[in-house]
Amino acid sequence: MLLHYLLFLLSLFGPALANTITFISLDEHDRTIWSRHKPKCKAVETGICLNENLIDIKPFNVTGFAHYAINIPLGWEGNFYATAAGNTDRTGMLAEIAWQGFEKGQYFDVSAIENPGDHVGVKQLWPADDKKAEVSGCISYPCPHVYYHPDDLQTKRATWDTNFWCTLGNADLKKNPHLARWHMVYNAEWERWHPMS
Ligand SMILES: *[C@@H]1O[C@H](CO)[C@@H](O)[C@H](O)[C@H]1NC(C)=O
Repeated sequence: MLLHYLLFLLSLFGPALANTITFISLDEHDRTIWSRHKPKCKAVETGICLNENLIDIKPFNVTGFAHYAINIPLGWEGNFYATAAGNTDRTGMLAEIAWQGFEKGQYFDVSAIENPGDHVGVKQLWPADDKKAEVSGCISYPCPHVYYHPDDLQTKRATWDTNFWCTLGNADLKKNPHLARWHMVYNAEWERWHPMS
């Protein structure tokens, strides 16, 4: 009985199991966020991939300067990109995340492979609570922290964190200096990423 109670308390107060991604708009523009996923190979039997159906995440809008969090189902993998609100679906700079991938870690990167010219959408992507995590993407493009070619080396470590931040757009730090906290920069001496201010 006591054990059950303790387990119940753990489930209430233990590490949150939810997967989330929170989009943070750094400018005044309203955007629509689209996502895509591929069928996921759940298991391979006699050389044939048994696909798992992942749910489609419906497009949603992130208004200028807003923060917008969405929950992601366990094991989902795919990408997100932004267009001007109301534009029809195309592609853009991609925030790619696999939740509960190999050994239940989260794998993430920003990819310019489909649309390297998108400099007004997805910017930086990083785990919210993993202080040692790396950051993918750029404050302004191009930069070395984004995939340009399919054979670019995978440089971002996987994380146990299941919650991500993804910034959108270009902050005007003269007008909005407080937004520098959403610009992640690398300190080579500490070997850590940290907010610009
Ligand atoms: C997003 O905003 C656009 C432009 O205001 C609107 O046409 C569209 O219906 C909105 N989409 C969603 C999913 O709310």
